Amino acid sequence: MTEDPWASLADAFVDGAYATVKGRVRTYVLHRQLLRHLPPPPAPVLDVGGGAAHQSVPLARLGHEVTVLDPSAAMLARAEQRLRAEPEDVRRRVRLVEGAGEQADVLTRGRRFAAVLCHGVLLYLDDPGPMVEAVCRCAGPGGVVSLMALNARTLAVRPALERRWADALAAFDADSEIGVLGARTRGDTVEDLSALLHEGGIEVESWYGVWLFSDWTELPLDTTDVAAVAEVELRAASRDPYRQLSRAFHLVGRRAEA
Ligand SMILES: C[S@@+](CC[C@H](N)C(=O)[O-])C[C@H]1O[C@@H](n2cnc3c(N)ncnc32)[C@H](O)[C@@H]1O
Repeated sequence: MTEDPWASLADAFVDGAYATVKGRVRTYVLHRQLLRHLPPPPAPVLDVGGGAAHQSVPLARLGHEVTVLDPSAAMLARAEQRLRAEPEDVRRRVRLVEGAGEQADVLTRGRRFAAVLCHGVLLYLDDPGPMVEAVCRCAGPGGVVSLMALNARTLAVRPALERRWADALAAFDADSEIGVLGARTRGDTVEDLSALLHEGGIEVESWYGVWLFSDWTELPLDTTDVAAVAEVELRAASRDPYRQLSRAFHLVGRRAEA
C-alpha cells in the first residue's frame, strides 16, 4: 500500500482550514472568478487535487459535470462524506477518481475537459512542471486551466506580522515556508506559471489575488460577516496593488479553439 501523506492532514484541512473565514472566502472568491471564464453549465470540469471537493461541489450545484482527481483516499473519503449532504442530482454530477494529477490524462482516459482546475496543489510539489503539463493536456480546445498557487513574492508578510523578524528577513529570498498545516509549502510566481502554461499551449487570460485581508487578520467565524469580507477580498483580488500583495494567486488561462 502506498502512503497517503494527506491522511493525517485531511481532518485539519476540512474541519480546520475550511471551517474558517479564510477558508470560506477562498472558495467564494475562486468560484466567482472562475465563473468569469467557464462556459455555461453543463460542461465537463476536472478538479486535479480536488481534495474534499470544496471547489467542485459549487460547480456541480450549478449543473457542471465534475471529476475530482486526487491521490489521497482520505481526502476523497471526506469528499464522499460532504457529497452525501447534497441532493441526488448534484451527487450524480460529481465523480471521484483516486490517482496522481501528473497522470490525469491517462486516469481520465484522454478525455478533454472544458475546464481543468488545480487549486492549492502546486505548493506541495517540489517541481510544478510535470503537474502543469498534465493539467494543460486535459484542457480541450477553448478549455480553461485554473491554477491557484502560493505567492512566492509575499512570503515575508506572515512572519513579519507575527513579529518573527529573522524569519521575515530570510523569507525575501526564500521560495518555501512551513505552511498552516505544518507541511513545507513552496511558492510560485505569476510569471513562472504563465510560462509553464504557455509551454502547455495555454495562454493566460487573467490573474487574481487570493487572500489579502483575511490572511493577515484573525477573523473569528462566529462574529464576522463572512459575506462582507468575501466581497472586499473579491474586489481586491482583481486590482493592483492589492492582488500583488495577496498570499496566494489565481491564474486562469485558455487553450485556443481548434
Ligand atoms: C490543500 S488541498 C487542496 C484541495 C482542493 N484543491 C481545494 O482547493 O480545496 C491539496 C490537495 O492536493 C492533493 N495532492 C497532493 N499531491 C498531489 C498530486 N501529485 N496530484 C494530485 N493531487 C495531489 C492532496 O491529496 C490534497 O487533496
